[in-house]
Amino acid sequence: MAATISTGATELRDITKMERIGAHSHIRGLGLDDRLEPRTSSQGMVGQAKARKAAGMILKMVQEGRIAGRAMLFAGPPSTGKTAIALGMAQTLGADVPFTMIAASEVFSLSMSKTEALTQALRRSIGVRIKEETEIIEGEVVEMQIDRSLTGATKTGKLTIKTTDMETVYELGTKMIDALSKEKVTAGDVIAIDKTSGKVSKLGRSFARSRDYDAMGADTRFVQCPEGEVQKRKEVVHTVSLHEIDVINSRTQGFLALFAGDTGEIKPELRDQINTKVAEWREEGKAEIIPGVLFIDEVHMLDIECFSFLNRALENELSPLVIMASNRGMARIRGTKFRSPHGLPVDLLDRVLIVSTSPYSEDEIAQIIKIRCEEEDVNLAEGALMVLTKIAGDNTLRYALNLISTAQVIARKRKSAQVEVDDVRKVYGYFMDEKRSVQWLKEQQGQLVFEEIGGEAREDAMDTS
Ligand SMILES: Nc1ncnc2c1ncn2[C@@H]1O[C@H](COP(=O)(O)OP(=O)(O)O)[C@@H](O)[C@H]1O
Ligand SMILES: [Mg+2]
Repeated sequence: MAATISTGATELRDITKMERIGAHSHIRGLGLDDRLEPRTSSQGMVGQAKARKAAGMILKMVQEGRIAGRAMLFAGPPSTGKTAIALGMAQTLGADVPFTMIAASEVFSLSMSKTEALTQALRRSIGVRIKEETEIIEGEVVEMQIDRSLTGATKTGKLTIKTTDMETVYELGTKMIDALSKEKVTAGDVIAIDKTSGKVSKLGRSFARSRDYDAMGADTRFVQCPEGEVQKRKEVVHTVSLHEIDVINSRTQGFLALFAGDTGEIKPELRDQINTKVAEWREEGKAEIIPGVLFIDEVHMLDIECFSFLNRALENELSPLVIMASNRGMARIRGTKFRSPHGLPVDLLDRVLIVSTSPYSEDEIAQIIKIRCEEEDVNLAEGALMVLTKIAGDNTLRYALNLISTAQVIARKRKSAQVEVDDVRKVYGYFMDEKRSVQWLKEQQGQLVFEEIGGEAREDAMDTS
């Protein structure tokens, strides 16, 4: 049994999460008040009160760690905010609780089996909060002296650091010198160096040196020279997911695979070892498990094998909350000949809390369109808003939202800062919605290349129920 399991503390500390501007970028949370009552319009969320409240209640249970091994399903017609509410939940959870989002079809990839893909998604959604002691060097830089070799390839040097109580001189190697110069460390700076990772952070400039320089930026922060020893032990807490621990410890991959996203399959024996180790850490009080959330969008695209695997996985002790979304009514379960509600097998449905979403009222649609216009920096005339609201009612909300930015392109072309009714009318003509597109295809029958579908046609028809 491998004795050393790395937690990835040093490798992962620098990963920052990227913000994406997309169809749901206006969603900042669920928009609930302290009593979990939905506000009419808040945090980018409008209407769908019942579903938002239900989502809020479930979140509360997640945050209290009471819900591992449960599942919920958002069921409703397209464009009724299923994905939006799930993302609102993610925003509310806080940075420490993992939230993973996959589309069910992602599971069918060539590079790994379906169950491996699901296992990875499940383990990505379980956080391990780890307490570790690291040794740091912290103090004010008295002097930094760097000697370059003739070729410049190797550098050596000395760094003198002091606290109010003592002063120490350290020998520097090339790597350390590079790290220090990257942070532009000079005498008078108060710095901290992580001894295990070699990471240098500048805490500010020492008060004692505040009069030395007159060419300092306005953002210079002055700090006191630290007290006590130069070398200290400090407790750091960081959260990684089980999947990250898996990948870091998988011999063939290494942590770089996390950046490439190309992790391949991970051996079950390794996972067993990691589970055992994490259990040990928990007993020693070194680690805490944080069950997060796995969101599987368009879950009806999973097949029967995936469903039965999920059913089993939910019984596992280390299981996250699984949220699913489906826009199907009665539909065939993939991989079988049977039809079932929402395209999910009954035994899975049995353990799922179902929350339904319903179409929006005209007022709500108008509000959502307005919010999107703000988000996309579009100035929409009152008349154009009415037309878009009508379009959203007749087709889908998503289609109407897609027209906003395209209409703005047209408005810009005629050098207008405002999007008018005519601009919307034009893009409505350029871009078909699903209904008109299907109608058009019917009219063109015989002229386009049509695939023969046969018996399955009814199942595969676009489902707008
Ligand atoms: N209640 C809501 N408040 C604000 N925006 C919403 C709301 N519901 C849906 N939207 C927006 O409408 C669009 C379609 O909703 P989406 O969540 O993708 O629908 P679904 O997943 O149910 O098909 C998205 O851009 C989404 O952000
Ligand atoms: Mg969706």
